[in-house]
Amino acid sequence: MTPADRELPSGVTPVIRPRRLRATAAMRRLTQQTRVHPAELILPVFIREGVSEPVPIGSMPGVVQHSLDSFRAELQRAAQAGIGGVMLFGVPEHKDATGTGATDADGILNVATRIAVAEVGDALVVQTDLCLDEFTDHGHCGVLDPSTGSGQVPKIDNDASLVRYREMAVAQAEAGSALLGLSGMMDGQVRAVRDALDAAGHLDTAILGYAAKYASAFYGPFREAVASSLRGDRRSYQLDPANRREGAREILLDVEEGADVVMVKPAMSYLDVLADAAAASPVPVWAYQVSGEYAMVEAAAAHGWIDRERAIDETLTGIRRAGAGAVLSYWAVEAAERWARV
Ligand code: PBG
Repeated sequence: MTPADRELPSGVTPVIRPRRLRATAAMRRLTQQTRVHPAELILPVFIREGVSEPVPIGSMPGVVQHSLDSFRAELQRAAQAGIGGVMLFGVPEHKDATGTGATDADGILNVATRIAVAEVGDALVVQTDLCLDEFTDHGHCGVLDPSTGSGQVPKIDNDASLVRYREMAVAQAEAGSALLGLSGMMDGQVRAVRDALDAAGHLDTAILGYAAKYASAFYGPFREAVASSLRGDRRSYQLDPANRREGAREILLDVEEGADVVMVKPAMSYLDVLADAAAASPVPVWAYQVSGEYAMVEAAAAHGWIDRERAIDETLTGIRRAGAGAVLSYWAVEAAERWARV
Protein backbone atom coordinates (compact mmCIF):
# COMPACT_ATOMS: atom_id res chain seq x y z
CA MET A 1 0.00 0.00 0.00
CA THR A 2 1.46 3.35 -1.02
CA PRO A 3 0.65 6.59 0.80
CA ALA A 4 -1.49 7.53 -2.18
CA ASP A 5 -3.71 4.50 -1.57
CA ARG A 6 -4.69 5.98 1.81
CA GLU A 7 -5.45 9.44 0.53
CA LEU A 8 -9.10 10.45 0.66
CA PRO A 9 -10.55 13.52 -1.01
CA SER A 10 -10.75 16.41 1.43
CA GLY A 11 -14.06 16.49 3.26
CA VAL A 12 -14.55 12.73 3.52
CA THR A 13 -11.72 11.95 5.95
CA PRO A 14 -13.54 10.70 9.08
CA VAL A 15 -13.28 13.04 12.02
CA ILE A 16 -15.29 10.88 14.37
CA ARG A 17 -13.87 7.40 14.69
CA PRO A 18 -15.97 5.12 16.97
CA ARG A 19 -13.65 2.23 16.12
CA ARG A 20 -11.09 3.63 18.60
CA LEU A 21 -13.11 2.08 21.38
CA ARG A 22 -13.22 -1.28 19.60
CA ALA A 23 -9.54 -1.49 18.72
CA THR A 24 -8.25 -3.75 21.50
CA ALA A 25 -9.73 -6.38 23.76
CA ALA A 26 -8.80 -4.28 26.80
CA MET A 27 -10.52 -1.18 25.40
CA ARG A 28 -13.64 -3.20 24.46
CA ARG A 29 -13.76 -4.64 27.94
CA LEU A 30 -13.48 -1.23 29.53
CA THR A 31 -16.21 0.32 27.40
CA GLN A 32 -18.70 -2.57 27.49
CA GLN A 33 -22.09 -1.17 28.52
CA THR A 34 -24.02 -4.30 29.50
CA ARG A 35 -22.70 -7.22 31.54
CA VAL A 36 -24.68 -10.15 32.78
CA HIS A 37 -23.79 -11.21 36.29
CA PRO A 38 -24.53 -14.73 37.59
CA ALA A 39 -26.65 -13.19 40.36
CA GLU A 40 -29.04 -11.94 37.67
CA LEU A 41 -29.81 -15.42 36.37
CA ILE A 42 -32.57 -17.72 37.59
CA LEU A 43 -32.70 -21.40 36.69
CA PRO A 44 -36.10 -22.99 36.01
CA VAL A 45 -36.10 -26.56 37.40
CA PHE A 46 -38.56 -29.41 36.75
CA ILE A 47 -39.14 -31.99 39.47
CA ARG A 48 -41.03 -35.11 38.53
CA GLU A 49 -42.95 -37.18 41.04
CA GLY A 50 -42.27 -40.89 41.27
CA VAL A 51 -39.02 -41.24 39.32
CA SER A 52 -35.74 -42.44 40.77
CA GLU A 53 -33.58 -41.22 37.88
CA PRO A 54 -33.67 -37.92 35.96
CA VAL A 55 -35.70 -38.10 32.74
CA PRO A 56 -34.28 -36.25 29.71
CA ILE A 57 -36.55 -33.80 27.88
CA GLY A 58 -36.11 -34.58 24.18
CA SER A 59 -36.96 -31.11 22.88
CA MET A 60 -34.66 -29.44 25.41
CA PRO A 61 -31.30 -31.22 25.07
CA GLY A 62 -29.38 -30.91 28.34
CA VAL A 63 -32.51 -30.25 30.46
CA VAL A 64 -34.15 -33.00 32.52
CA GLN A 65 -37.11 -33.70 34.73
CA HIS A 66 -35.37 -34.23 38.04
CA SER A 67 -35.82 -36.99 40.55
CA LEU A 68 -35.64 -35.77 44.13
CA ASP A 69 -32.02 -36.95 44.34
CA SER A 70 -30.81 -35.33 41.14
CA PHE A 71 -32.75 -32.22 42.17
CA ARG A 72 -30.66 -31.93 45.34
CA ALA A 73 -27.46 -32.16 43.30
CA GLU A 74 -28.73 -29.53 40.86
CA LEU A 75 -29.53 -27.16 43.73
CA GLN A 76 -26.01 -27.49 45.12
CA ARG A 77 -24.54 -26.85 41.69
CA ALA A 78 -26.74 -23.75 41.23
CA ALA A 79 -25.72 -22.38 44.62
CA GLN A 80 -22.06 -23.08 43.87
CA ALA A 81 -22.36 -21.24 40.55
CA GLY A 82 -23.63 -18.16 42.38
CA ILE A 83 -26.81 -17.65 40.38
CA GLY A 84 -29.66 -15.62 41.85
CA GLY A 85 -32.34 -18.24 42.29
CA VAL A 86 -34.32 -21.22 41.08
CA MET A 87 -37.89 -21.33 39.76
CA LEU A 88 -39.49 -24.68 40.55
CA PHE A 89 -42.05 -26.55 38.44
CA GLY A 90 -43.70 -29.77 39.61
CA VAL A 91 -44.59 -32.67 37.34
CA PRO A 92 -47.17 -34.67 39.31
CA GLU A 93 -48.09 -38.31 38.77
CA HIS A 94 -51.83 -37.65 39.00
CA LYS A 95 -53.86 -34.77 37.62
CA ASP A 96 -57.49 -33.78 38.06
CA ALA A 97 -59.97 -31.09 37.05
CA THR A 98 -59.06 -28.55 39.72
CA GLY A 99 -55.39 -29.44 40.16
CA THR A 100 -55.62 -30.63 43.76
CA GLY A 101 -51.94 -31.67 43.66
CA ALA A 102 -51.06 -27.99 43.65
CA THR A 103 -52.54 -27.33 47.06
CA ASP A 104 -51.62 -30.62 48.70
CA ALA A 105 -48.76 -30.07 51.17
CA ASP A 106 -47.42 -33.43 49.97
CA GLY A 107 -47.82 -32.52 46.30
CA ILE A 108 -44.57 -32.72 44.33
CA LEU A 109 -44.02 -28.98 44.00
CA ASN A 110 -44.51 -28.31 47.69
CA VAL A 111 -42.28 -31.26 48.62
CA ALA A 112 -39.59 -29.98 46.26
CA THR A 113 -39.90 -26.48 47.69
CA ARG A 114 -39.27 -27.70 51.23
CA ILE A 115 -36.20 -29.60 50.01
CA ALA A 116 -34.86 -26.55 48.16
CA VAL A 117 -35.36 -24.26 51.13
CA ALA A 118 -33.58 -26.73 53.40
CA GLU A 119 -30.70 -27.30 50.97
CA VAL A 120 -30.01 -23.83 49.56
CA GLY A 121 -32.59 -21.46 51.02
CA ASP A 122 -29.98 -18.99 52.24
CA ALA A 123 -27.89 -18.96 49.07
CA LEU A 124 -30.65 -18.85 46.47
CA VAL A 125 -34.09 -17.26 46.18
CA VAL A 126 -36.34 -20.31 46.01
CA GLN A 127 -39.27 -19.47 43.72
CA THR A 128 -42.29 -21.48 42.65
CA ASP A 129 -44.57 -21.47 39.63
CA LEU A 130 -48.06 -20.59 40.76
CA CYS A 131 -50.32 -21.92 38.05
CA LEU A 132 -52.65 -24.87 37.73
CA ASP A 133 -51.63 -26.16 34.31
CA GLU A 134 -49.11 -28.73 35.53
CA PHE A 135 -51.76 -30.15 37.88
CA THR A 136 -54.96 -30.13 35.81
CA ASP A 137 -56.02 -33.01 33.60
CA HIS A 138 -57.18 -30.55 30.92
CA GLY A 139 -53.85 -28.69 31.09
CA HIS A 140 -55.30 -25.19 31.41
CA CYS A 141 -53.94 -22.60 33.81
CA GLY A 142 -57.28 -22.23 35.57
CA VAL A 143 -60.41 -24.22 36.29
CA LEU A 144 -62.97 -24.75 33.53
CA ASP A 145 -66.37 -23.14 33.46
CA PRO A 146 -68.74 -26.08 33.96
CA SER A 147 -71.17 -24.62 31.41
CA THR A 148 -68.70 -25.46 28.62
CA GLY A 149 -70.33 -28.17 26.53
CA SER A 150 -68.25 -31.12 25.41
CA GLY A 151 -66.81 -30.39 21.98
CA GLN A 152 -66.77 -26.65 22.71
CA VAL A 153 -63.60 -24.61 23.18
CA PRO A 154 -63.17 -24.74 26.97
CA LYS A 155 -63.96 -21.54 28.84
CA ILE A 156 -61.72 -20.76 31.80
CA ASP A 157 -63.52 -19.46 34.88
CA ASN A 158 -61.41 -16.48 35.95
CA ASP A 159 -62.72 -15.98 39.48
CA ALA A 160 -62.99 -19.67 40.34
CA SER A 161 -59.33 -19.93 39.26
CA LEU A 162 -58.44 -17.10 41.65
CA VAL A 163 -59.94 -19.09 44.52
CA ARG A 164 -57.57 -21.94 43.66
CA TYR A 165 -54.59 -19.58 43.24
CA ARG A 166 -55.20 -18.19 46.72
CA GLU A 167 -55.10 -21.70 48.18
CA MET A 168 -52.04 -22.56 46.13
CA ALA A 169 -50.26 -19.40 47.27
CA VAL A 170 -50.75 -20.25 50.94
CA ALA A 171 -49.58 -23.84 50.36
CA GLN A 172 -46.44 -22.60 48.58
CA ALA A 173 -45.70 -19.99 51.22
CA GLU A 174 -46.10 -22.63 53.91
CA ALA A 175 -43.64 -24.84 52.02
CA GLY A 176 -41.18 -21.94 52.23
CA SER A 177 -41.21 -20.42 48.75
CA ALA A 178 -39.77 -16.90 48.90
CA LEU A 179 -41.25 -15.64 45.65
CA LEU A 180 -44.41 -16.88 43.97
CA GLY A 181 -44.38 -16.77 40.16
CA LEU A 182 -47.97 -16.03 39.15
CA SER A 183 -48.00 -17.31 35.57
CA GLY A 184 -51.69 -18.11 35.04
CA MET A 185 -52.73 -14.80 33.43
CA MET A 186 -56.07 -14.57 35.22
CA ASP A 187 -57.37 -11.03 35.81
CA GLY A 188 -56.84 -9.81 39.36
CA GLN A 189 -54.52 -12.66 40.33
CA VAL A 190 -51.87 -10.52 42.03
CA ARG A 191 -54.35 -8.74 44.26
CA ALA A 192 -56.22 -11.94 45.09
CA VAL A 193 -53.03 -13.78 46.02
CA ARG A 194 -51.54 -10.87 48.00
CA ASP A 195 -54.70 -10.74 50.08
CA ALA A 196 -54.64 -14.48 50.75
CA LEU A 197 -50.97 -14.40 51.74
CA ASP A 198 -51.45 -11.46 54.08
CA ALA A 199 -54.55 -12.97 55.66
CA ALA A 200 -52.54 -16.13 56.39
CA GLY A 201 -49.70 -14.12 57.91
CA HIS A 202 -47.27 -14.56 55.00
CA LEU A 203 -46.39 -10.89 54.82
CA ASP A 204 -42.84 -11.53 53.63
CA THR A 205 -43.66 -13.87 50.76
CA ALA A 206 -43.04 -11.89 47.57
CA ILE A 207 -44.98 -11.98 44.31
CA LEU A 208 -43.56 -12.13 40.81
CA GLY A 209 -46.34 -11.18 38.40
CA TYR A 210 -45.96 -12.75 34.96
CA ALA A 211 -47.57 -9.55 33.86
CA ALA A 212 -47.01 -9.51 30.13
CA LYS A 213 -47.19 -13.16 29.19
CA TYR A 214 -47.91 -13.75 25.53
CA ALA A 215 -49.65 -16.74 23.91
CA SER A 216 -46.46 -18.01 22.31
CA ALA A 217 -45.38 -20.89 20.09
CA PHE A 218 -42.08 -20.75 21.95
CA TYR A 219 -43.57 -22.56 24.96
CA GLY A 220 -43.69 -25.71 22.81
CA PRO A 221 -40.89 -27.71 24.47
CA PHE A 222 -42.18 -26.76 27.96
CA ARG A 223 -45.27 -28.85 27.23
CA GLU A 224 -43.04 -31.91 27.06
CA ALA A 225 -41.08 -30.73 30.08
CA VAL A 226 -44.17 -30.75 32.30
CA ALA A 227 -45.94 -33.61 30.48
CA SER A 228 -48.75 -31.19 29.69
CA SER A 229 -52.16 -32.56 28.87
CA LEU A 230 -53.31 -29.33 27.24
CA ARG A 231 -55.94 -29.50 24.53
CA GLY A 232 -56.52 -26.31 22.60
CA ASP A 233 -54.56 -23.16 23.38
CA ARG A 234 -54.29 -20.35 25.92
CA ARG A 235 -55.33 -17.44 23.74
CA SER A 236 -58.30 -16.53 25.89
CA TYR A 237 -55.99 -15.59 28.77
CA GLN A 238 -52.46 -15.01 27.45
CA LEU A 239 -51.72 -11.90 25.37
CA ASP A 240 -51.85 -11.65 21.60
CA PRO A 241 -48.26 -11.44 20.27
CA ALA A 242 -49.30 -8.43 18.18
CA ASN A 243 -50.17 -6.27 21.19
CA ARG A 244 -47.53 -3.99 22.66
CA ARG A 245 -49.86 -1.58 24.44
CA GLU A 246 -51.68 -4.42 26.15
CA GLY A 247 -48.34 -5.63 27.55
CA ALA A 248 -47.70 -2.19 29.03
CA ARG A 249 -51.18 -2.17 30.55
CA GLU A 250 -50.75 -5.58 32.17
CA ILE A 251 -47.43 -4.45 33.66
CA LEU A 252 -49.08 -1.40 35.24
CA LEU A 253 -52.00 -3.46 36.54
CA ASP A 254 -49.73 -5.98 38.27
CA VAL A 255 -47.73 -3.15 39.83
CA GLU A 256 -50.94 -1.52 41.10
CA GLU A 257 -52.14 -4.85 42.48
CA GLY A 258 -48.97 -5.18 44.53
CA ALA A 259 -46.54 -7.27 42.49
CA ASP A 260 -43.01 -7.05 43.92
CA VAL A 261 -41.47 -7.94 40.56
CA VAL A 262 -43.04 -8.07 37.09
CA MET A 263 -42.10 -10.23 34.14
CA VAL A 264 -42.19 -10.17 30.37
CA LYS A 265 -42.39 -13.55 28.68
CA PRO A 266 -41.11 -14.84 26.25
CA ALA A 267 -38.01 -12.67 26.00
CA MET A 268 -36.48 -12.52 22.55
CA SER A 269 -39.57 -11.80 20.47
CA TYR A 270 -40.80 -9.24 23.04
CA LEU A 271 -37.80 -6.99 23.67
CA ASP A 272 -39.85 -3.88 22.85
CA VAL A 273 -42.41 -4.84 25.49
CA LEU A 274 -39.52 -5.43 27.89
CA ALA A 275 -37.98 -2.03 27.16
CA ASP A 276 -41.37 -0.36 27.69
CA ALA A 277 -41.78 -2.16 31.01
CA ALA A 278 -38.26 -1.32 32.16
CA ALA A 279 -38.92 2.36 31.47
CA ALA A 280 -42.30 2.49 33.20
CA SER A 281 -42.11 0.09 36.13
CA PRO A 282 -41.22 1.19 39.66
CA VAL A 283 -40.47 -2.44 40.59
CA PRO A 284 -37.86 -4.79 39.08
CA VAL A 285 -38.64 -6.17 35.62
CA TRP A 286 -37.46 -9.64 34.68
CA ALA A 287 -37.71 -11.65 31.48
CA TYR A 288 -38.17 -15.37 30.83
CA GLN A 289 -36.08 -16.87 28.07
CA VAL A 290 -38.48 -19.71 27.40
CA SER A 291 -38.11 -23.31 26.34
CA GLY A 292 -38.46 -22.66 22.60
CA GLU A 293 -35.79 -19.97 22.69
CA TYR A 294 -33.49 -22.51 24.34
CA ALA A 295 -34.42 -25.25 21.88
CA MET A 296 -33.80 -23.07 18.81
CA VAL A 297 -30.25 -22.23 19.81
CA GLU A 298 -29.49 -25.80 20.87
CA ALA A 299 -30.85 -27.24 17.63
CA ALA A 300 -28.99 -24.81 15.39
CA ALA A 301 -25.78 -25.34 17.37
CA ALA A 302 -26.16 -29.12 17.15
CA HIS A 303 -26.18 -28.75 13.36
CA GLY A 304 -23.04 -26.62 13.53
CA TRP A 305 -24.97 -23.66 12.16
CA ILE A 306 -24.14 -21.23 14.95
CA ASP A 307 -21.49 -20.94 17.64
CA ARG A 308 -23.40 -22.20 20.66
CA GLU A 309 -21.67 -20.35 23.49
CA ARG A 310 -21.47 -17.05 21.66
CA ALA A 311 -25.14 -17.34 20.74
CA ILE A 312 -26.13 -18.07 24.35
CA ASP A 313 -24.20 -15.08 25.65
CA GLU A 314 -25.61 -12.85 22.92
CA THR A 315 -29.19 -13.78 23.82
CA LEU A 316 -28.62 -13.15 27.54
CA THR A 317 -26.86 -9.87 26.87
CA GLY A 318 -29.61 -8.73 24.51
CA ILE A 319 -32.30 -9.44 27.07
CA ARG A 320 -30.36 -7.58 29.78
CA ARG A 321 -29.65 -4.70 27.38
CA ALA A 322 -33.36 -4.34 26.59
CA GLY A 323 -33.98 -3.75 30.29
CA ALA A 324 -34.37 -7.02 32.19
CA GLY A 325 -32.97 -6.85 35.70
CA ALA A 326 -32.79 -10.63 35.82
CA VAL A 327 -33.36 -13.42 33.33
CA LEU A 328 -34.90 -16.85 33.80
CA SER A 329 -32.84 -19.10 31.57
CA TYR A 330 -32.26 -22.82 31.18
CA TRP A 331 -28.59 -21.89 30.63
CA ALA A 332 -28.31 -20.03 33.94
CA VAL A 333 -25.95 -22.44 35.69
CA GLU A 334 -23.95 -23.41 32.64
CA ALA A 335 -23.36 -19.76 31.70
CA ALA A 336 -22.43 -18.76 35.26
CA GLU A 337 -19.95 -21.63 35.51
CA ARG A 338 -18.39 -20.80 32.15
CA TRP A 339 -18.02 -17.09 32.95
CA ALA A 340 -16.31 -17.97 36.22
CA ARG A 341 -13.64 -19.85 34.25
CA VAL A 342 -12.60 -16.92 32.02
C1 PBG B 1 -47.42 -21.97 33.04
C2 PBG B 1 -46.09 -21.74 32.44
C3 PBG B 1 -45.68 -22.00 31.12
C4 PBG B 1 -44.33 -21.66 31.06
C5 PBG B 1 -43.93 -21.22 32.31
N1 PBG B 1 -45.05 -21.25 33.15
C6 PBG B 1 -46.43 -22.63 30.01
C7 PBG B 1 -47.51 -21.89 29.35
O1 PBG B 1 -47.94 -20.82 29.76
O2 PBG B 1 -48.01 -22.42 28.34
C8 PBG B 1 -43.48 -21.78 29.84
C9 PBG B 1 -42.01 -21.77 30.10
C10 PBG B 1 -41.19 -22.18 28.94
O3 PBG B 1 -41.68 -22.40 27.82
O4 PBG B 1 -39.97 -22.30 29.13
N2 PBG B 1 -47.35 -22.77 34.21
